[in-house]
Amino acid sequence: MRVLGIETSCDETSAAIVSGTPDDMQLESLVILSQDVHRLFGGVVPEIASRQHLVGIVPAVNAALHDAQRALGDLDAIAVTHAPGLVGALLVGTSYAKTLAFSHGLPVVPVHHLEGHLFATLLEQPEAKPPFTALLVSGGHTLLLDVPEWGRYQLLGQTRDDAVGEAFDKVAKLLGLPYPGGRPVELLAATAESPEHGHAHYFARPMLRRRAVVTDDDYFDCSFSGLKTAVLYAVRRAEAAGDIEQQRASIARGFQDAVIDTLVEKVYRAAKLRRRSRVVLGGGVACNGALQQAMRERFAGRNGVVFAPTPRLATDNAAMIAAAGLFRALQGEHAAPDMTATASLPIPGIFSGKF
Ligand code: KG4
Ligand code: ZN
Repeated sequence: MRVLGIETSCDETSAAIVSGTPDDMQLESLVILSQDVHRLFGGVVPEIASRQHLVGIVPAVNAALHDAQRALGDLDAIAVTHAPGLVGALLVGTSYAKTLAFSHGLPVVPVHHLEGHLFATLLEQPEAKPPFTALLVSGGHTLLLDVPEWGRYQLLGQTRDDAVGEAFDKVAKLLGLPYPGGRPVELLAATAESPEHGHAHYFARPMLRRRAVVTDDDYFDCSFSGLKTAVLYAVRRAEAAGDIEQQRASIARGFQDAVIDTLVEKVYRAAKLRRRSRVVLGGGVACNGALQQAMRERFAGRNGVVFAPTPRLATDNAAMIAAAGLFRALQGEHAAPDMTATASLPIPGIFSGKF
């Protein structure tokens, strides 16, 4: 089976071709047009995003076909992100996918963006397959899942307020760093002295109590808005003392350490509960090298393997949409002609249950 994937849920216009089966997948091409214009505004401007998708979608799809040396006649299906995301942005991809599919007699496969993130690592590392514990951390979502098999996702925990990427972006703004802020915060944090050598900022770890038990509400959930406020006060104190330049790196480091400690512990609890030896990270924040390293160190003792996609596949891209679409197409799932775009929708196959 060969699938063209289309992704336009936020600020990347992307097209890709993937072929094979979920056990043996090949990425034939991937084109990502990133909309840098949003940097000027410090966040994604929905109408500008939609208009840019309209400009980029045809060249992106043509380039993906060209790079893979394929024609539309070589495809078995067109997979497209239909939820969640900015509705105007999603409508560009879904409308184009439907038109292209209709005019070439191909089925359309609707893909949930977050299910796409779960498949991203598989394109590079065939061992990143179920059963595994998954941590999806992006600008809009923070989800802790148990994945016994593709298509079945048990929701163990999520954020109660800000997504992790959103917290990175807001802290970056407080520290005078550009948008999106995750990478700049990581780079600044790396320049701070380590805790043993006097890096001064320690922030309380949100929802991380030592004697927590699995039946506690917050055993798997996270919260980052209190941490963000603690960073705000630290920045204000440093500014009042005329010392912000000296303290910026240490504040970034203290924030990142608190986030990482929290995420590593929550993922560890989830993997232990379900006796999983594989962990798959997904979403833009999965690019964070310090997070990956801390996760690997924590799981080394349990002979656990931590998989993370490379940055190109961790952030939004159509390869992961094509991969999830290929799985869904093999299940016989096709969109009805009235398929639409939806701003928010649960991942198909998600369930929550008693621990
Ligand atoms: O998955 P993604 O590309 O888009 C969404 O679906 O949101 O994730 C973007 C998010 C942004 O908040 C960005 O700041 C964050 O991922 N991010 C990072 C890093 N690289 C990107 N956060 C922490 N460390 C990084 N190295
Ligand atoms: Zn995403």
